[in-house]
Amino acid sequence: MRRPLVAGNWKMHGTKASVRALVEGIRQGMGEVAGVEVAVCPPFVYLERVSTLLADSDIALGAQNLCQVPQAGAYTGEISDAMLLEFGCRYVIIGHSERRNVYGEDDALVAQKCVVAARAGLTPIVCVGELLEEREAGHTEQVVGRQLAALLEAEGGLEALRRAVIAYEPVWAIGTGRTATPQQAQEVHAFIRTRLGEHDEQLARDIRILYGGSVKPGNAADLFGMADIDGGLIGGASLDAGDFLAICRAARP
Ligand code: 13P
Repeated sequence: MRRPLVAGNWKMHGTKASVRALVEGIRQGMGEVAGVEVAVCPPFVYLERVSTLLADSDIALGAQNLCQVPQAGAYTGEISDAMLLEFGCRYVIIGHSERRNVYGEDDALVAQKCVVAARAGLTPIVCVGELLEEREAGHTEQVVGRQLAALLEAEGGLEALRRAVIAYEPVWAIGTGRTATPQQAQEVHAFIRTRLGEHDEQLARDIRILYGGSVKPGNAADLFGMADIDGGLIGGASLDAGDFLAICRAARP
């Protein structure tokens, strides 16, 4: 039985005051989300503050990225696995489409980051997903298959995936208000599980595959009701405690 996970990706949002209000709001509703694992992923600069605000709660902390090099060194602007652990992170989002498309992270770099995160004991939330033109050209499985292959074929990649969560985020659905239908999402989730099963059946059965892309309180239950959708990676709606909690409630088993 896969435990549902709902993770809030706050992206580049927040102030010292707003993150406090948001965490306090989420904490207040945690009694209603039994059986659901809940995580929040603030910007790096707020990790310490949010970690303190989460003390003695069941909400896990995650980061939005990490450096692909596992030891301290001359990597200006980067944040290491050890630093994330020191600040109480359990999760780290890897290869979000904004990292891939705005910052040029390629499949090989994403795979390297996934391996480094998993080896450090973090749980990578690895994002995959196609662009609108790729979907319209009928290339969704080809693109997602290529992204998965890079993870599976990297040295240590399969072991890393055994610790990982996958997030299917069709790029055309992110921040657009245009959600994949539950059937469209389910098709790709099933494809991901089948592809992983070709390498490791146990992994395919156990790995959680989240859906991300304009998940809102009004569409969450239908998405999470699909057989291969194990929760969500939530952007915009995770910045509102009430909406985020409503989405978490929709993931209850
Ligand atoms: P939205 O929920 O704002 O569409 O963002 C999804 C996302 O990118 C989560 O990582």
